[in-house]
Amino acid sequence: MGNPNVLDEVFEKFVNEAKLFKDREVLRHDYLPDRLPHREEQIRILGQAVAPVLKASRCSNIFIYGKTGTGKTAVTKFVLSHLESKAKEYGAPVKFCYVNCRMTGSEYRVFASLSQNLGLTIPFTGLSVGEVFDRFRTGLDATRTLFIIILDEVDSLIKDRGDGILYELTRINEALHQSKVAIIGISNDLRLKEFLDPRVFSSLSEEELVFRPYDAGELRNILLERSKLAFLDGTLSEAALSICSALAAAEHGDARRALDLLRVAGEVAERQGASAITEEHVREAEKHIEHNKVIEALKNSTLHSKLVLLSVYHLGKASGSSATTGEIYDIYNELCGELGVSLLTQRRLGTLVNELDAMGLLNSKVVSMGRYGRTKKIRLEISRSQIQEVFGTDSRLGRMISYAPKFLAKTTRTAR
Ligand SMILES: Nc1ncnc2c1ncn2[C@@H]1O[C@H](COP(=O)(O)OP(=O)(O)O)[C@@H](O)[C@H]1O
Ligand SMILES: [Mg+2]
Repeated sequence: MGNPNVLDEVFEKFVNEAKLFKDREVLRHDYLPDRLPHREEQIRILGQAVAPVLKASRCSNIFIYGKTGTGKTAVTKFVLSHLESKAKEYGAPVKFCYVNCRMTGSEYRVFASLSQNLGLTIPFTGLSVGEVFDRFRTGLDATRTLFIIILDEVDSLIKDRGDGILYELTRINEALHQSKVAIIGISNDLRLKEFLDPRVFSSLSEEELVFRPYDAGELRNILLERSKLAFLDGTLSEAALSICSALAAAEHGDARRALDLLRVAGEVAERQGASAITEEHVREAEKHIEHNKVIEALKNSTLHSKLVLLSVYHLGKASGSSATTGEIYDIYNELCGELGVSLLTQRRLGTLVNELDAMGLLNSKVVSMGRYGRTKKIRLEISRSQIQEVFGTDSRLGRMISYAPKFLAKTTRTAR
């Protein structure tokens, strides 16, 4: 039995001494501030691009690029929420739907969430992607609206699935009579163009908007504004603010990283019972964040990348050694079946393995098998406990950690 006095002390200390944060929530990634300094230009351009819908005509498709943390999501949501209230004011028949493709995971679910946005009911599974798309199109036409579709982090969907979904969506207007669609695509990967069919690319990027990384001075202003809401007056030192900005600028001008540093530094200072956040707290925060990077990379992987990692995880558990692409594909196939998601080709899986290798999550090397030729051997580059930690709490993939692949039960792997 623990000593209840100890806990009492912990809680009392937290309540009485935590005098740094005014509102921790404003440092969350999805908090949308009222002002977005250093993005006035992007706000204006995006505003001009979508404005035609207020006069009931379709706006251009727009493609937005920029590295993570450059404000793409914040700016887009900001512009669209203002557009929404203007549209109400003018009685313009405008609707919009924001979908984060990485979180949504599949074409089926993207179309399902677009449909739900229009009030249509789509079963969780059971229809083909084509059927969901048809229902969406028919339902949309009946609503007589200008429908703006925001596909955020669309790069993750396209790398997993190819550009079929964009192909369908960019052609949908041909089949609509009473409604019109405009697409705002957002990509963290600046090379997305290379993954797209040229026709899809050209219709999608009727307009293009690039978000450059922030420099240290810009990050400092962003942090300063946010810190006024987040912390009590006088609790954030100048030095801490500057070092947060400088570290994030050196990374790749990532405002998200800067805000993370600030939040974690605040938490470190709070735990130490400090009365202000200093440079040392930021240094400490940087170490914490560094440690969490692998975890973050895992969490942010696409569904199929996660399934590949899980497959390697299971193969490693069975044999303790590395696996071949063929073996990974067999387990992956089984996991997809269990979860009811459709398979990628073995070739695409090979591409994912290479990407995961480049990210430092997998390690693959080509080894000679003597007279059997050469083969690629793949193993986890990260610890098994990190996989368990991240996937164990994932609502969809959680049970796949303890799942025992039938493939492993019925084959003696050395015989393959
Ligand atoms: N110009 C800005 N002013 C204030 N906050 C910003 C600005 N740009 C980004 N942010 C904040 O930084 C974080 C990351 O921005 P986000 O829009 O999610 O980046 P992206 O979508 O490009 O990855 C969010 O919390 C956002 O509110
Ligand atoms: Mg974003």
